[in-house]
Amino acid sequence: MNDTFLRACRGEKTEYTPVWLMRQAGRYLPEYLKVRSTVDFLSLCKTPELCIKVTLQPVERLKVDAAILFSDILIPLEAMGATLKFHEGRGPVFPDPIRDYEALSKLIIPDPHEKTGFVLETIRLLRRELQVPLIGFAGAPFTCATYLIEGGSSKVFPETKKIMYTAPDLFHGIMDKITETTIACLKAQAEAGAQALQLFDSWAGILAPGDFTRYALPYAERIIDALQELGLPIIYFANNGATLLKYSAATKAHVIGLDWRIDMKDAIDTVGNKAVQGNLDPFALLLPRKELKERIQRILHGARDAKGHIFNLGHGIHQFTPPKQAEFMVECVHELSST
Ligand code: CP3
Repeated sequence: MNDTFLRACRGEKTEYTPVWLMRQAGRYLPEYLKVRSTVDFLSLCKTPELCIKVTLQPVERLKVDAAILFSDILIPLEAMGATLKFHEGRGPVFPDPIRDYEALSKLIIPDPHEKTGFVLETIRLLRRELQVPLIGFAGAPFTCATYLIEGGSSKVFPETKKIMYTAPDLFHGIMDKITETTIACLKAQAEAGAQALQLFDSWAGILAPGDFTRYALPYAERIIDALQELGLPIIYFANNGATLLKYSAATKAHVIGLDWRIDMKDAIDTVGNKAVQGNLDPFALLLPRKELKERIQRILHGARDAKGHIFNLGHGIHQFTPPKQAEFMVECVHELSST
């Protein structure tokens, strides 16, 4: 069993820097597209046999040091009772957004075993196959709330901010239910066999620091605190969060995710005595190989004094990335960091 990733999360010395890629299973891989041509996205998420297959695809191809469960941050929201649809090419849609108390009162805090047993089954079966650690995950409450309130993806998040500022009690009510749901889901993932847990706060970066610490971070912290008893590494990734880093770093998360908008050296000066994960621009994979290699080297060098470093992209891999470039990235990280 290759446990380099888990040791780096704990800040222990490793023979080389472990690496995985956010969204490593997905549409940039022809073998994923082949599976997807037979099934819609939500059905894929609910079929353990297929989830196992697509989770393993990047592990086998890229030789990464960790696997991430194939699922989606929106699955627990559907389990809360929200209707979720994926329109091909348009992404997720919640046709009945949560914008008043009546809608909120209809949301439940689901039992993850009862409503998302397929996720737990996927984890149990994956653990029998994998030679690298398995990462479980959820969306952080703020990011999840934006999807429920906007009714899907957004650029400026007008409905979320409107509710946050004009109906704070309603906003907190929504956040509260998502938080309880997320704690139960992540505990169940750990019980089923997940060996580290990542909280994706993909939209935290749209908030002013004062709003982040008031409206978003306390809920993420409640989750991080509740998970401490599991004894597993917890990774908190606030995308576009360079200006929020000192607050993220003050949580009890063991690993802090970094995007590419900050220099590694500056980031670890702020993060201090914790492991970090990131920080290559996903589009850097389009660079000529020589230049890509130099950028990887720069990040590894910048992280040399970190408590631990897990190499990763600064956000999910883009669907138009040539898989060969991702393979090359993993090879470079292993080669350049080997002691
Ligand atoms: O290897 C992996 O990481 C796969 C597991 C995974 C998926 N989504 C599968 C997926 C993970 C960890 C996620 C997280 C996720 N989902 C996030 C947080 C990370 C981030 O990128 O910020 C968010 C915001 C979502 C919500 C979501 N899911 C959107 C907005 C979309 C549509 C746009 C897009 O990126 O494709 C999805 C769909 C989705 N989730 C796909 C995959 C592989 C593509 C679906 C397809 O096959 O058409």
